[in-house]
Amino acid sequence: MKQIAILGSTGSIGQSTLSIVEKYPDRFAVASLAAGKNVDAAFEQCKRWRPAVVSLASEELADALDLRLRQTGITGVDVVYGTAGTVRAAKLPEVDFVVSAIVGVAGLEATYAAVEAGKPVGLANKEVMVAAGEILVSAARAKGVPLLPIDSEHNAIHQCMRAGKKREVRRIWLTASGGPFRNLPLSEFENITVEQALKHPTWVMGRRITIDSATMLNKGLEIIEACRLFDIPPSAVKVTVHPQSTVHSLVEYIDGSILAQISVTDMRLPILYAMSYPERVESDLTFDMAALGQLDFAPPDFERFPCLRLAYEAAEQGGAHTIALNAADEVVVEAFLERAIPFAAIPRTIEEVLEAIPESHPATIREVLALDQQAREMARCAVKSIASPAGKLR
Ligand SMILES: NC(=O)c1ccc[n+]([C@@H]2O[C@H](COP(=O)([O-])OP(=O)(O)OC[C@H]3O[C@@H](n4cnc5c(N)ncnc54)[C@H](OP(=O)(O)O)[C@@H]3O)[C@@H](O)[C@H]2O)c1
Repeated sequence: MKQIAILGSTGSIGQSTLSIVEKYPDRFAVASLAAGKNVDAAFEQCKRWRPAVVSLASEELADALDLRLRQTGITGVDVVYGTAGTVRAAKLPEVDFVVSAIVGVAGLEATYAAVEAGKPVGLANKEVMVAAGEILVSAARAKGVPLLPIDSEHNAIHQCMRAGKKREVRRIWLTASGGPFRNLPLSEFENITVEQALKHPTWVMGRRITIDSATMLNKGLEIIEACRLFDIPPSAVKVTVHPQSTVHSLVEYIDGSILAQISVTDMRLPILYAMSYPERVESDLTFDMAALGQLDFAPPDFERFPCLRLAYEAAEQGGAHTIALNAADEVVVEAFLERAIPFAAIPRTIEEVLEAIPESHPATIREVLALDQQAREMARCAVKSIASPAGKLR
């Protein structure tokens, strides 16, 4: 029985992970949970799963949850909070496997703590790889713990790479749906609304990743994640736009063979793969090959999606530039969701921050977090300078 820690349990990936645990009660059990602000969902999860530890973002929220649990007669759940709480949930001695699915760098310290504690990690949170992948990967190697990608593209690559040796890989192909604005004329990008950007054509996900998919910065973050997870240079990571999201990614070998992974567009499959690795477990997540229609592939449009270029440039530079790419994006996406800046200002603002951030290569998580704060401050200033004087856009 694998005891699972789920960091980000109330989110889209967290809930899918719990549905896998529900489906395989003989294989998996919940040891600990960590969430942000959603006390109601955390309460329901505690009621159902009785974790030994649950963490929320702040002391106030943890107190509210603790009170509700006690009023309901639920005991034995240790309610903790903040970064220390998330770290505690990740490092709990009985935990065998950690699902890292907090959004953004808020998940960094706990993911690092899990690796340092020798726990295998299923990694959904790509932002931690972008901000601190160099440090995380080397810690994982030193500890001999696997970092198993849950991001569907990297999960596909992980699967395809089991067919050959790393030195036999020529390049990898990340597939991208192209998001909702794949065919929108560039001239209309300035008028894109929050509602339009939140409508992803093939996946239902959290708000930040959905906006990142609309700007294609999500694919940019995945380029960096791939370089770090699979130890390959940015020039060997290609993007192909595949609107059906049926082929989740491909690996091209030196003999010219290209292997692809095909499955349903359902995150429960990569989660199950990571949680069961190196085994494969029978599931009902079947793909109907008979219904397989057309598969389209096209090169990405760098003019329409400048975030892709910014990500390749940051991937080449590494260190402060990938940290700033992620930090600036977190700030500007939030500003866009609050209708303080237009959609087209997202890449412009990120580029401004990337141009201003001095080059450096942090060696510790503390240094990463300091640089992250610096980049956030720069992004906030840039947002302030472009935010509409009337306050809100639409
Ligand atoms: N969704 C997908 O299909 C998908 C696919 C590939 C990769 N990913 C990656 O997986 C990660 C999670 O994505 P998601 O779509 O599941 O996001 P989401 O639905 O927005 O969920 C985010 C989770 O993080 C928690 N959280 C936020 N701030 C926190 C904090 N300061 N401390 C502790 N917990 C905090 C949230 O808690 P509350 O809700 O309680 O505030 C929630 O549980 C992201 O890195 C994303 O890029 C997602």
